[in-house]
Amino acid sequence: MRREALIPQVVQVTDIRRDTPDVKTFRVVDLDGRKPFLHIPGQCAMLSMPGVGEALFSITSSPTNEDYLEFSIKKCGCVTDWLHAIEPGQQVTLRGPYGNGFPVDTDFAGKDLVFVAGGIGLAPLRSVINYVRCYRDRYGTVDIVYGSRSKADLVDYQEILDEWCSEPGISVHLTIDNPQPDWDGHVGFVPNFVKELGFDTGKTVVMCGPPIMIKFTLAGLMEQGFPRDQIYTTLELRMKCGLGRCGRCNIGDKYVCKDGPVFRLDQLDQLPDEY
Ligand SMILES: Cc1cc2nc3c(=O)[nH]c(=O)nc-3n(C[C@H](O)[C@H](O)[C@H](O)COP(=O)(O)OP(=O)(O)OC[C@H]3O[C@@H](n4cnc5c(N)ncnc54)[C@H](O)[C@@H]3O)c2cc1C
Ligand code: FES
Repeated sequence: MRREALIPQVVQVTDIRRDTPDVKTFRVVDLDGRKPFLHIPGQCAMLSMPGVGEALFSITSSPTNEDYLEFSIKKCGCVTDWLHAIEPGQQVTLRGPYGNGFPVDTDFAGKDLVFVAGGIGLAPLRSVINYVRCYRDRYGTVDIVYGSRSKADLVDYQEILDEWCSEPGISVHLTIDNPQPDWDGHVGFVPNFVKELGFDTGKTVVMCGPPIMIKFTLAGLMEQGFPRDQIYTTLELRMKCGLGRCGRCNIGDKYVCKDGPVFRLDQLDQLPDEY
């Protein structure tokens, strides 16, 4: 372990974008105006403010972005309330990157990929999706299924419309839970939509979202005959150190912060049912 891995660096928030009523995306650089560190899609980092607290967030920007890191953060408690109240120019502290990330250059290479996200679960997948878009010829077909409660709750909606939807070879399937007047797209829950879309069972599925969405989407994929070693998801437990030191996030002999948060379904099958 690098000794400095636990020591946060001071970074500056240069841009804050409101994505949904309770999600904002924060852009950060170091005090020299550069990207604070390199990462792999799916890795996380701890953002903190002395006297307020510290919390772990997925890095939502792609590693292919060389200028800054971005975090999409849902307002739900002490640290996130404070972050939602700050203005660009505010300094915060940051440590990371932590976790294993998605196997974008190994297991995913050459595969047809299906991304399934719900709500703020798009945050870690946006990093992978934009990485895959940048190295498009290394992957097969790409499908993105993304759902939220309402149109206003779709994170990164403008980027999805302007960039993802117009890209050849990428199919975007959006859904919202209930009908609304300014929405002519699909209506219904993500697990049912995934079933309706009926993807080929040879594709690799990458999922992130609320536990209930994961549970029912998985059940549907199993019914359809997807092999468990072709399904990847992320686990979200409460964490403290982020690098396998404090024992806060262990499941059996694995630390979610260090051995995860990305796991293949057949790897999760080996763990005690404590998550
Ligand atoms: C691997 C990982 C990646 C994450 N990525 C993101 C991300 O990209 N964007 C984002 O908005 N959030 C993400 N989170 C969740 C984020 O860490 C929590 O929302 C944050 O810690 C809340 O801090 P707080 O001080 O604002 O809330 P607190 O005041 O600590 O808690 C507010 C409420 O949320 C509950 N809570 C807090 N953290 C968790 C948790 N991990 N699991 C279940 N309940 C919890 C508390 O019990 C409480 O009810 C991630 C968490 C993990 C473990
Ligand atoms: S958060 Fe400390 S061991 Fe995982």
